[in-house]
Amino acid sequence: MSKQDLNLISQSADQTRQLGKTLGALLNAGDVICLQGDLGAGKTTLVQGLAQGWGSLDPVSSPTFIIVNVYRRADETELYHLDTYRLESAPEAAMLDLDDMLDAGPLVIEWAERIESILPAERLWLKLEHIDEEKRGIQINAVGAAYENLLEKINANLTGF
Ligand SMILES: Nc1ncnc2c1ncn2[C@@H]1O[C@H](COP(=O)(O)OP(=O)(O)O)[C@@H](O)[C@H]1O
Ligand SMILES: [Mg+2]
Repeated sequence: MSKQDLNLISQSADQTRQLGKTLGALLNAGDVICLQGDLGAGKTTLVQGLAQGWGSLDPVSSPTFIIVNVYRRADETELYHLDTYRLESAPEAAMLDLDDMLDAGPLVIEWAERIESILPAERLWLKLEHIDEEKRGIQINAVGAAYENLLEKINANLTGF
């Protein structure tokens, strides 16, 4: 592992959830977590674990027409889950007030590559790739000192990989 990169193989949906859980437990308001990967790569599965690790009281959902989901925690902070799959255009993306979300909590984004132009330069980027039925390659890249630090903590806290 370098300071910026960590490459993992997940052998199951549960293992991907476990990675999400480890990551979620480390997140604070203002953190940007970007997920890239085709349909079925495991983005939402990872978010399920992430929300759990963060302490969400609400289950993760992917309703058909919702673009932003907000999950609550006992301390009333919020976790934002953005799925840009159904965004039609760049202007539509520009209407999302990412700054407002980031003031209130961490933000995790599925299909982040579709709105890359409006994302902060510093972020954690996870690329998920289908290898076979149960196996996924997960490449994690940290941009910025805070995210390098986060990546180091993920690596230290990760079990089962
Ligand atoms: N190693 C794995 N990691 C994540 N999901 C996996 C894995 N192996 C099998 N799966 C299955 O693949 C599907 C991933 O779906 P989902 O998380 O909704 O993907 P996405 O949000 O990227 O479209 C789920 O049905 C999940 O159970
Ligand atoms: Mg999804």
